[in-house]
Amino acid sequence: MPRRFDGKSVLVTGAGHGIGRQIALDFAAEGACVGVNDVSSERAHAVAAEIAAAGGRALALVADVRSAEQVERMLAEHAFSLAVPDVAVNNAGVYPNSLIVDMSEDEWDRVWDINMKGMFLVCRAALRRMIAEKAGGKIINLSSGAALRARVGASHYCSSKAAISMFTQVLALEAAEHNIQVNAIAPGLIEVPDWDLTPEYIDALVGMTPRGRIGQPSDVSAMARYLASDAADFITGAVMLVDGGASAGQSLPLSG
Ligand SMILES: NC(=O)c1ccc[n+]([C@@H]2O[C@H](COP(=O)([O-])OP(=O)(O)OC[C@H]3O[C@@H](n4cnc5c(N)ncnc54)[C@H](O)[C@@H]3O)[C@@H](O)[C@H]2O)c1
Repeated sequence: MPRRFDGKSVLVTGAGHGIGRQIALDFAAEGACVGVNDVSSERAHAVAAEIAAAGGRALALVADVRSAEQVERMLAEHAFSLAVPDVAVNNAGVYPNSLIVDMSEDEWDRVWDINMKGMFLVCRAALRRMIAEKAGGKIINLSSGAALRARVGASHYCSSKAAISMFTQVLALEAAEHNIQVNAIAPGLIEVPDWDLTPEYIDALVGMTPRGRIGQPSDVSAMARYLASDAADFITGAVMLVDGGASAGQSLPLSG
């Protein structure tokens, strides 16, 4: 039986852990060959091996998305070994916490360099190859609910994610004539392995989420595959919330 992404080539950055790992596994399970990027060689190879063990096709691509040179090499390797990506998912991102008053310049730069500059570099490299290939394409960028709702300790993260949402819209305009659709996903809190959130913090967040639970990587992966599919042909420049309603408002009791 044909699968949704048979014959498609998909690049996922930061795919060695968490949301990116799930996106890579799920695309592979639906027939795509997947470039599994991570700055950690161990993680990239582990996820590529997981895909291969499940009968899929994957290539570990070790690169730091902050480096233009490494990104160019990654795209060349992906194109040579798999094919020019039909879909590029920009998922690599970091989210440390510090109050502005305490924040080091290095921490600020690291967040912006990985989250925003890295995304620009990967988008530029993928776009050039997609345009040269003349086969259209899909670019999917990971923004965050933090782009819409301020969070104490996350000035660098919230602002970088807000920038990603606007960057995605500009890129959607510029790529449209090449039949390339560009969208972002803004997840709410998504459970990833090894996180260091306290049960109290998680409970408070669930209380602010109308759906009444935190999200799972599969919730985000489902949206990524929808946006990459033919069904999303008329969607570009959109920022899709996957946050259980957390951005919709506060569920207060009936007043009066
Ligand atoms: N988990 C959440 O609650 C949540 C919510 C909203 C948005 N997001 C966004 O989703 C994305 C994935 O988040 P996650 O929670 O799965 O993160 P994660 O920390 O579990 O995984 C991120 C992966 O990116 C890799 N990475 C980090 N820097 C890199 C670099 N310079 N080059 C290449 N790879 C690099 C890491 O090694 C790691 O394997 C991020 O962009 C994040 O901002 C996450």
